[in-house]
Amino acid sequence: MVTIYLFGKKYSVPGELTIMTAMEYAGYKLVRGCGCRNGFCGACATIYRIEGDRELHFCLACQTQVQEGMVIATMPFFPLIKQVYDIETVTPSQQLMMQLYPEVYKCIGCNACTKACTQGLSVMQYIAYAQRGDFKKCAEESFDCVMCGVCSSRCPAGISHPQVAMLARRLNGKYLTPEAAHLNDRVEEIGDGKFEELLSALMEKPLDEIKELYHHRDIEQ
Ligand code: FES
Repeated sequence: MVTIYLFGKKYSVPGELTIMTAMEYAGYKLVRGCGCRNGFCGACATIYRIEGDRELHFCLACQTQVQEGMVIATMPFFPLIKQVYDIETVTPSQQLMMQLYPEVYKCIGCNACTKACTQGLSVMQYIAYAQRGDFKKCAEESFDCVMCGVCSSRCPAGISHPQVAMLARRLNGKYLTPEAAHLNDRVEEIGDGKFEELLSALMEKPLDEIKELYHHRDIEQ
């Protein structure tokens, strides 16, 4: 058992639990800040300190094991700026970034976003690529973003990093990455129902078997 503090209240919980399961063990019913439970949806952004340590840590509650002396606060939904644009008509240029997300040019280089990223991404670096209109590099650098919003909660310039990165990835996918003929063919085949039977059979399988198949799937080099 380890001692942790949830919202300032002390609890004793099994040490092998994640922060999320420890909250449930302690009696909290999670109706917000909990989604996929697998590190993908970004809903469970959490901040903690270890008693006696000055450093502030940021993590996903569903992916982080509890530790002795953790003082934990989960983060509520964090409001980002989400601009509306028509991806069919925009031009992938630096001007577009200036027009939609001008706050990226107010970055003071404090690196708080990178230090706070729950995915260990170089957030300040991908914002630097976005400033230059280098959407390909911004898209690559931000690829693993789960949009938890912790970076933005720490930003003194008010940048909505996950939304900037989303724009870059959309532009990259739509305008900059060459079309893959085999991918188009496969999408068409899926649309025509060629894999319906296979997919239905897959959905009947137990989760462990699906995981096994996933980990040993053919990957094109
Ligand atoms: S619940 Fe989805 S990332 Fe944690």
